[in-house]
Amino acid sequence: MIAICAVCVSLLLLLPLTIVLYKLWWAPLHFQSIMESQGIKGPCYNFFHNNTKEIIKIKNQTSYNSPIDLPDHDIFPRFQPYWYSCMKLYGNNFLVWNGTQPQVVVTEPELIKEILVNRNGAYPKTKREGYLKKLLGDGITVAEGEKWLKLRKLANHAFHGECLKDMVPAMVASVQTMLEKWRHYEGKEIEVCGDFRILSSEVISRTAFGSSYVEGIKIFNMLGKLSALISENANKMNFLGLVKFVRTKADSEADKIEQLLHESIMEIVRKRQDEVITVRADSFGSDFLGSLLKARHEGSEKKQISAAEIIDECKTFYFAGQLTTHSLLSWSVLLLAIHPDWQEKARNEVFQLFGRENPNSEGIARLKTVNLIIHETLRLYSPVTLITRRTQGQVKLGKFKFPANVELAIPPLALHRDPDIWGQDAHLFKPERFAEGLAKATKGNPMAFLAFGFGPRICPGLNFASHEAKIALSMILQRYKFTLSPNYVHSPFIALTVQPQHGVQILLQPL
Ligand code: HEM
Repeated sequence: MIAICAVCVSLLLLLPLTIVLYKLWWAPLHFQSIMESQGIKGPCYNFFHNNTKEIIKIKNQTSYNSPIDLPDHDIFPRFQPYWYSCMKLYGNNFLVWNGTQPQVVVTEPELIKEILVNRNGAYPKTKREGYLKKLLGDGITVAEGEKWLKLRKLANHAFHGECLKDMVPAMVASVQTMLEKWRHYEGKEIEVCGDFRILSSEVISRTAFGSSYVEGIKIFNMLGKLSALISENANKMNFLGLVKFVRTKADSEADKIEQLLHESIMEIVRKRQDEVITVRADSFGSDFLGSLLKARHEGSEKKQISAAEIIDECKTFYFAGQLTTHSLLSWSVLLLAIHPDWQEKARNEVFQLFGRENPNSEGIARLKTVNLIIHETLRLYSPVTLITRRTQGQVKLGKFKFPANVELAIPPLALHRDPDIWGQDAHLFKPERFAEGLAKATKGNPMAFLAFGFGPRICPGLNFASHEAKIALSMILQRYKFTLSPNYVHSPFIALTVQPQHGVQILLQPL
């Protein structure tokens, strides 16, 4: 009897150990061998610290923070050095580990197309965890099915066609405010990134939320703090995958910021609701916030959205509307400052279309050279450096078979530098490569230009961002010639999007 009891107790004690060993050791190694048999290789799974140790080592070797020489714009090896070295060792598609989570990095255009087109919902978005979840919630960027469709329709409507036309005067007014400040720097050096950050915040606040930058400032500050926490905590050493079970000071700080963010957004939402309730306004308004509130209060049951969904959408659009466009403008001005020929070409076009008048919708649609410059800037300095999906169930992707729950990682910068697509001069600024359209520039692989994504989840803010960039660049070119200041240090870095680490300093000459 005692012996039987002893066996039972031993089995009970062994069971959790067996489960842990299965999850941490056997399952990953088994998955690795399945992938290897199909030709997808990668660094060996490490039971203790996964791949984080190698990632940190390679990052340190890459002198990630030190300046690089212009005019080389090849930033993929600098930003994603681990993947860059894996690509050289294991080929275009390879396996890495994020804890016990397998991640297959895919850089082959045909496979990327299949993933992003997402027929039958085989490749949903990856689940969001940690600080990123606090930053953007569970809104449009991760939603699936009916919920995504409902939110996507609202976003498409708010940032398309006629609505965009109506936003032009607000965009022009925001650029004018910025350029008023620039008058104090005529003939001198000016750092422009800070101004572009305020400009893009002002534009999204005015056009989507009917408020000013000053009203939205608390929201932007908190989004900025959460983004900083994400950047600081990326690639923490993940010993036995235990990081997520340890609560840190940063976790408490993130909780606090999330709460404050919630309250600040609710303040703006309540203000708009009160205007209708107290009959000061006869509708919720036609901007993005107005559409969200209309859907909440007046939508049919199917279209209705909850208060939590409104908060998540506001966070997402405040964040996406600001950070990406700010990056695009900063890099465009840097590239024009070091390419005076393109600056001159763009200026001639702007004068031909607008003279000294402010840009208008009709002219904006006809800006060809400025459009080429924006495309080339986005190719070299794509603000978004990672697009992820996961496998919903068992799938066949090209010739590969994947089980459920494999994370698929697509790095746009790896595609944007591919010499087979863009030629041996892929690392150089050559806007003329887009002159005959995207299909020609990408040799018939339009998904090789991934700055705005591809497929049904392509960026709904694409035209909004292009409008804003075209208006800002046109108005700058109408007033100034600019060159790069000798004080500029070329050190691109990732703070969720690709940013110039020490700003962009230019010398401003009035025309
Ligand atoms: C230069 C500017 C921008 C760039 C480069 C950019 C890039 C991207 C990319 C690559 C995606 C696809 C992500 C994926 O497939 O997982 C995306 C999605 C998204 N973007 Fe943008 N974006 C920009 C501006 C904006 C602006 C101004 C807004 C809002 C006003 C915005 C809102 C969104 C939203 C809501 C999504 C998610 C769409 C969905 O999942 O259906 N973006 N963006």
